[in-house]
Amino acid sequence: MTTAAFLPQEVIRRKRDGARLAPEEVAAFVAGLTEGSISEGQAAAFAMAVFFRGLAREECVALTRAMTASGRVLDWSGEERPVLDKHSTGGVGDKVSLPLAGIMAACGAAVPMISGRGLGHTGGTLDKLDSIPGYRSQPDVETFRRAVAEAGCAIIGQTADLAPADRRLYAIRDVTATVESVPLITASILSKKLAAGLQGLVMDVKVGSGAFMTELDDARALAESIVAVAEGAGLTTRALITDMNQVLGRSAGNALEVREAIDYLTGVARDPRLHEVVVALAAELLQIGGLAEDAATAEAAISAALDGGAAAERFQRMVAALGGPGDLIEAPARRLPEAAFRVAAYPETAGTVAAIDVRAVGLAVLSLGGGRRRADGAIDHGVGLTEIAGLGEAVGPERPLAMVHARSEDEAQAAANALRRGFSLGDHGPPSTTTLHARIAL
Ligand code: URA
Repeated sequence: MTTAAFLPQEVIRRKRDGARLAPEEVAAFVAGLTEGSISEGQAAAFAMAVFFRGLAREECVALTRAMTASGRVLDWSGEERPVLDKHSTGGVGDKVSLPLAGIMAACGAAVPMISGRGLGHTGGTLDKLDSIPGYRSQPDVETFRRAVAEAGCAIIGQTADLAPADRRLYAIRDVTATVESVPLITASILSKKLAAGLQGLVMDVKVGSGAFMTELDDARALAESIVAVAEGAGLTTRALITDMNQVLGRSAGNALEVREAIDYLTGVARDPRLHEVVVALAAELLQIGGLAEDAATAEAAISAALDGGAAAERFQRMVAALGGPGDLIEAPARRLPEAAFRVAAYPETAGTVAAIDVRAVGLAVLSLGGGRRRADGAIDHGVGLTEIAGLGEAVGPERPLAMVHARSEDEAQAAANALRRGFSLGDHGPPSTTTLHARIAL
């Protein structure tokens, strides 16, 4: 609807000059974006105007609602379990969604999780799942629904009919230097979550050298915006700000992270920081969904789901329901792809890890072939890093910075060099480290 009253250039001009847009103006602009009557140039100008002028909360709610309504909204009205999800702003080694989906399903939730691919130096949940042979990460909606019904959880990619206005605007933002805008990120993430038909959401807003937000104040602003706008749009949401000044868990790289998630679920190995983040997010969600009265009850339910094997069993059921092997949990080494070369990346001198440029670690994985150089590029699921050293750990000739899994000796050495540049060693580690920085709730 681009009638005379809603000329796109007038909406852009008003936002450029700092005016507050009416919900109808925002809705008309988004309708034009979806149907194609608004040009790429106009969408880019709008995004840039918002980048500089911002959006008031009501405008951001209007943008979120309009982008949600631009496509299909999933309806879970026949579902008796609370419909819940978690979303992360992205990090390195962030495999939280994999165990969390199984835990939540085991605790009585329905988790229809729409995930993304890797962005920049960060890994994407969808790319990790694509390393499982046969796993269909882009199924039709019926298969998705069946998987949620059978397993209690299903993790898939954004389909073309969910929030198409966001899909178009995001692609334009990506090439016009307008991604880093709190209201645009807020509306983008939430429109997809609302289109998935959720009743509750927990956000994991990452902060640190491996996150898009490197400063706590910026992460807090994004978390507060997401929580307030989600509530304004009718979706109960809480956010945790969690640390990305070191890789989460011990691995980074697609199949390697699936393996770590399986080892976590089965109890073979459970990295304490990864566990802290998984438990904190799952506990929030259980409370949002009315499945636990308080944090202590939630944590007890999570422990029972992990220790009794129900969370691992739910994850396995999800994998099988989406076309993956029925014995992934029992035989991950047989099912997951592996890189041909394995090389230890030793530091030049012995010392203690004082700081990590986690972005550089993510880029090392990308250079190994574990991420994309261009949007349509293929990735190698077997490559990446394991046994990655954390802050405060002693490294030296006996303890490498990480094990590099590569396609060739040359690529392994290049990644090892990048890691040596990314790790700062000293006589001691940082004075303190924090995994959970803040909790944001209305
Ligand atoms: N992820 C999204 O889905 N949208 C953004 O704008 C940024 C990250």
